[in-house]
Parts: sequence; C-alpha cells; structure tokens
Amino acid sequence: MREKIVTGNWKMNYDESQTIDLLNNLKSIKKPNDIRVIVAPAFTQLSKSKELLNETSFSVAAQNMNGAISGAYTGEISADMLKGIGVNTVILGHSERRSLFHETDEILAEKVRVALDADMEVIFCFGEELEQRRSNIHLEVVEKQLKVALFDLPRLLWKNIILAYEPVWAIGTGETASPEQAQEMHSYIRSLLVLNYDEIIADSVAILYGGSVKPNNAKEIFSGTDVDGGLIGGASLNANDFMAIVNAF
Ligand code: PGA
Repeated sequence: MREKIVTGNWKMNYDESQTIDLLNNLKSIKKPNDIRVIVAPAFTQLSKSKELLNETSFSVAAQNMNGAISGAYTGEISADMLKGIGVNTVILGHSERRSLFHETDEILAEKVRVALDADMEVIFCFGEELEQRRSNIHLEVVEKQLKVALFDLPRLLWKNIILAYEPVWAIGTGETASPEQAQEMHSYIRSLLVLNYDEIIADSVAILYGGSVKPNNAKEIFSGTDVDGGLIGGASLNANDFMAIVNAF
C-alpha cells in the first residue's frame, strides 16, 4: 500500500507569529489517519514548527538545502544542520529553485545524493514548462529530469524518495493539469520506475501532483490511480483550505 501524502510548501511566507497561528489552526482541524501531512515553512521557522508539532502526526520539511557537507558557502544550510534540529525531510528541485536559482539536473543529482547519504527523506520536484508541453515533449523532459537526478541511485535508497510532478505552467498560475493529464504523467513515471528498477519500487514510491491544487479541484486530481497526493503552494497558507485538500482524498 503506497502512502498518501499532502505537503504544504509555504515558500518565503510567514514570520514566527504567522507560523504559530497557522500551525495551531492546522492542529485544530480533523484529518484522516491514513494521510501523511507535511509542512515546509521557511528555514527560520523550522525549529519553532518542530516544537509546535511535537507529538502530532504532522511532519516538518525544509524547502531546500545545500549540496555540500559544510564549508565556505555563505548563507547556505546543510543536511546535517537540518538533521540537527530534527528535520529529516527536504524538498529538492522545486521549479523556483531551478529557474530563479539556476539549479540544474546535475546540481540536483548531487543534492539528492548528499541528502540521502545523510539519511534524509527527499521530496523531489520536477516537471515541464509550458512550451515543452505545447511541443509535446513533456514526457521526454520529465524522463531526463528523473534520469539525471535519480535513476543512478541504488534501489535501496528509493524508500527515502517521494516524487512530486509539478508542471511549471500550473504553479501559482491558477491553471491545473487536468486529472487526465496528471494521471497520464504519473502513470508514465511509474512505467519509468519499472523500466529502470522493477515493479516493487514502482508500486511503492509515492508520486504527488503539484500546481494550483485547491479545495475545489483536489478531489478530482487525487482520483487518478497513480496520484498519491499533492504538493500545495498557495492554498497551504490557509489552514481551512489546506486541510480541505487533505480531507479531499
Ligand atoms: P501552487 O504551488 O499550489 O501555489 O501552484 C505549488 C508549488 O509550488 O509547489
């Protein structure tokens, strides 16, 4: 049975008091036991979030980390630093990191390796741009992103990987992939896992969809048999909206 997961990516939003408000509101709303909920606040709010979510079933993830172990990387945060405050999950490869901070597939491959070596769990994001979908090369684009960053990994490490398909044209735009487009891509990704590994890995890896998931479209998107949850940006900043998405399964 694959895990069902909903992750909230808060991006560069919310200071400490807003974080406390949102987390307290999240905790007050009922959610099904079989759905894992992860929140990813800014670096500065991670410790506070861990403290507030202690003894709840919510987990906390970082939105990024550096691919070096330590050293002269001013302003950066390492895997060990995250682990030191009890944060064991990291989002890597988000399209904003790729486009605004020039993180290539090769840089991401290194970050993934370092995170997994540190025994962290990785939520790996990837997805095509609008032009690539229009040119009908979206499947090849996604295959390359996965191949460079992940398909050299030993089979054993896949237990610590969650995939998040996020078509760039759907992120923050209000435009979502249709349930059919999401399911088509997710099932393609699963077929790539069979090809590069085997059925056991393919059946066990959770594949999330991200890109303008809202309370009013979550149910339809999650209905795809290969869609195991969502990576939520804008709607994760509001407790009612986020929990409505969690409860949409
Ligand atoms: P969105 O963002 O839900 O605001 O489209 C998704 C994401 O960036 O992960």
